[in-house]
Amino acid sequence: MCRIFAAILKGGKASPILTAGLKRLEYGGYDSAGIATIHNGRLFVKKDAGKINEVDRRLDFGSLPGSLGIAHNRWATHGAPVQVNAHPHTDCKGSVAVVHNGIIENFAELKKELLDKGHHFISKTDTEVVAHLVEEYLLQGISFRDACLHASRRLEGSYALAVISTVEPSRIMLLRKDSPLLLGLSDEGNFASSDAVAFIDHTQDAVPLDSGEMAELTSSAYSVFRTADGKAVLKKPIRLEWTLEEASKEGFPHFMLKEIFEQSRSLHYALNLQKPYLELMAELLDRSKTVYLVAAGTSYHSCVAASYIYSELAALTAIPVVASEFVEQYGRSVNVDSTVLLVSQSGETADVLRAAEYVKAKAATVLGITNVLGSTLTRVTRAYLLQQSGPELGVAATKTYASQLLTHMQLALYLGKKRGKLSQSEVDYYLDAFKKTPELVEQALREHDERMKKLARKYLSRKHFFFLARGLNTATALEARLKLSEIACTPSTALPAGESKHGPISLVEKGVPAVFIAPDDGTNKLMEGNIMEMKARGAEAIILGARDDEKLRRLSDEYVALPPDIPGILTPIVYVVPLQLFAYHMAVEKGLDPDKPRNLAKSVTVL
Ligand code: G6P
Repeated sequence: MCRIFAAILKGGKASPILTAGLKRLEYGGYDSAGIATIHNGRLFVKKDAGKINEVDRRLDFGSLPGSLGIAHNRWATHGAPVQVNAHPHTDCKGSVAVVHNGIIENFAELKKELLDKGHHFISKTDTEVVAHLVEEYLLQGISFRDACLHASRRLEGSYALAVISTVEPSRIMLLRKDSPLLLGLSDEGNFASSDAVAFIDHTQDAVPLDSGEMAELTSSAYSVFRTADGKAVLKKPIRLEWTLEEASKEGFPHFMLKEIFEQSRSLHYALNLQKPYLELMAELLDRSKTVYLVAAGTSYHSCVAASYIYSELAALTAIPVVASEFVEQYGRSVNVDSTVLLVSQSGETADVLRAAEYVKAKAATVLGITNVLGSTLTRVTRAYLLQQSGPELGVAATKTYASQLLTHMQLALYLGKKRGKLSQSEVDYYLDAFKKTPELVEQALREHDERMKKLARKYLSRKHFFFLARGLNTATALEARLKLSEIACTPSTALPAGESKHGPISLVEKGVPAVFIAPDDGTNKLMEGNIMEMKARGAEAIILGARDDEKLRRLSDEYVALPPDIPGILTPIVYVVPLQLFAYHMAVEKGLDPDKPRNLAKSVTVL
């Protein structure tokens, strides 16, 4: 959840580039920031607690000299977010500096061993042991590269590490175990980061490192080794399709709003899935006896919707499971006949990757849906689909959710056709409907941004909301609740509407806002009953329904009218849009920064 960035240039100062990269990586951690550079054989370090812009204003990172440096945004795990715990961390002599994303699980033992050898520690972090460990090996007279290699073999846990040393001031060593790390290669010099957005304005040529690998980077070359035996690994660069424009705010006040508005474009890209992989994955799903859909957060909600979609289009039972629970809940029943479809925007969520590791050992088939080419998920799966949403920098997932849904739908369609559950005319009907999603979302955005801002103002002081739906829009209710809690810090209850009378209705009293997601998909009759039950107890009904549904409109206190005649299966993509906007405006009206939600990180790379 911290993010690291390293740059080594052929000429000029690295610090302005490192600072700009850190600002783009801020979504990954924002309680401290720091940069270390080497110039004329000396190490320079500036770091402090606070958001990158504040810290930069105070310390002026760009004044750091030298054409090589490492940088870090912190999201605290070990030690409070204070100056001394901010990265980079250094050794006793100030000749080694380290930045780290991950957790060194055996740091306490290592620290004791190093303290006994006379090393002096100043922070409470797990990371500082790495600087001292490298120093300890350098004291034995071995090269910087070998010192890093030896150090890595002592580390347990997860890490993406960038290490520099005045001993060899023209190289950066990079180590990866689990936490994401990739190199960026350009004519002006080379880079490495947890996320390509850090260097995307300099190059689109990248080399993703695999877990258990180390890279040595100079300004004009790179080499990769396996940390276990030091053997060289041949790795060819891949070409990233993202541009800087896609990774910047484009005039919107927040990434979250920009990404909500970008959905029609990203849905368009999600219509271009790789056909051979759709076919292969449909084939593998068809052969399986049990199918699990495994994910976290918003991606999990796409799986909840997908469980309805695979059943509806392909008569396939697919069980959505929260990734952190998968091993305990279903581990023993996984076998060679099981398929696990992992869904992760970042492709780096630790709980998802842990599930992957577990099921691979049981010879199950592992498939994936992700947004990030070169992410770990792409390397642990037998086949995967790239949803192609472009970089998502808002911590709250929005556009990637819509694209995940559309990706699931296309896979379900291939599967339904393959299993003979859909006729050709049905397939054509759905293909045609899928193509209309960008325009439907565009319309919802046009019509509801101002309206949702007004509703956010009206309901700003309400303490608790309900989100109720039936069928696959249960996922929309769950996602609306997640957005409102993570961005606007407003508690709510979300559940299938039929469940409300089994308990949660006891929370309803006069003036409680209840949001009903009620498209015209055949569930409306039952929904009307649920709306009446809640209203009878004083709830204010905010209803999202089809524009021409006069009955629902009459039942509502506020009616959010959406395009009529949308095939039921597509409604989650369209109906979530006003609710994303509602959460966004609630946050802004409350004076919160939607791009920096309290205590959260974009990608959770620790278990
Ligand atoms: C974090 C983020 C969520 C995201 C979840 C899963 O909790 O704050 O927005 O949905 O991780 O991330 P993934 O990259 O696996 O989809």
